[in-house]
Amino acid sequence: MKILDGKKLALKIENSIAQETALFKKQTGKVPGLAVMLVGNDPASHTYVNMKKKACDRVGFYSITHEMPSDISQEAIEETIIMMNQNPNIDGILIQLPLPEHIDTTKLLELVAPGKDVDGFHPYNVGRLTVGLDGFVPCTPLGVMHLLQEYNIDVKGKNCVVVGASNIVGKPMALLLLNANATVEICHIFTDDLKKHTLNADIIFVGVGVEGLIKADMVKKDVIIVDIGVNKNANGKLVGDVNFNEVSQKASFITPVPGGVGPMTIAMLLSNSLKAAQMHNKASK
Ligand code: GUN
Repeated sequence: MKILDGKKLALKIENSIAQETALFKKQTGKVPGLAVMLVGNDPASHTYVNMKKKACDRVGFYSITHEMPSDISQEAIEETIIMMNQNPNIDGILIQLPLPEHIDTTKLLELVAPGKDVDGFHPYNVGRLTVGLDGFVPCTPLGVMHLLQEYNIDVKGKNCVVVGASNIVGKPMALLLLNANATVEICHIFTDDLKKHTLNADIIFVGVGVEGLIKADMVKKDVIIVDIGVNKNANGKLVGDVNFNEVSQKASFITPVPGGVGPMTIAMLLSNSLKAAQMHNKASK
């Protein structure tokens, strides 16, 4: 069994982004800028946003976090997004999800300028991904594709089972795999007999937030496991959706949690933001 080491690859990518950022600054006098919208006091969202901000600092980006109270109005968030759309120092806009119940999330995601949509959540970028055109791709599934590539894992013709059908992870994951010529199945909360599907998988991608969902008797020998789950167990330890101790005995490759997919998500946010800055620089010439 080999570990798919996302922490190590993320560090390598960060180092190259830091170098490219220094070069970009030398050539343009500018640095990539990221604006983050953080609404309410969800502790996990605060942790994620903090990690994103620190990563921006490490590679030399400008970043600003707009912290807003949970009872803020839809209009006030919209005004901030419009301001960020118009701000030439901002290349990327990220709305940390989930948002409070009274907020229309779809409307906000659609308000972000598609050229600043570094999360790849705007329907314009979702559409481009669907038809296989270049655009902004959601960071977590994009990070998974880079991680597989680093270990020379080609998904072409492989039976890939994606467990979870969210807009952030499962759906874009399935589209990226399909675009890379994999055979793709998407399983979700209404799937009857999950095991029947996972037993047939060469590669399993799971991100549903259920600790220990994937057990050893649900996978075939030499399966490749990509665990996108983030859960806290009874001891307060961070764990994924896969029973690592059991499943790692049967797997040929497996991502750990933490240290697998998580660090890749942040590396891809930096990569998308640099790409946005380079695009904006070209467009302004
Ligand atoms: N909430 C959970 N994951 C993500 C993510 O990748 N981006 C944003 N904006 N919010 C999230």
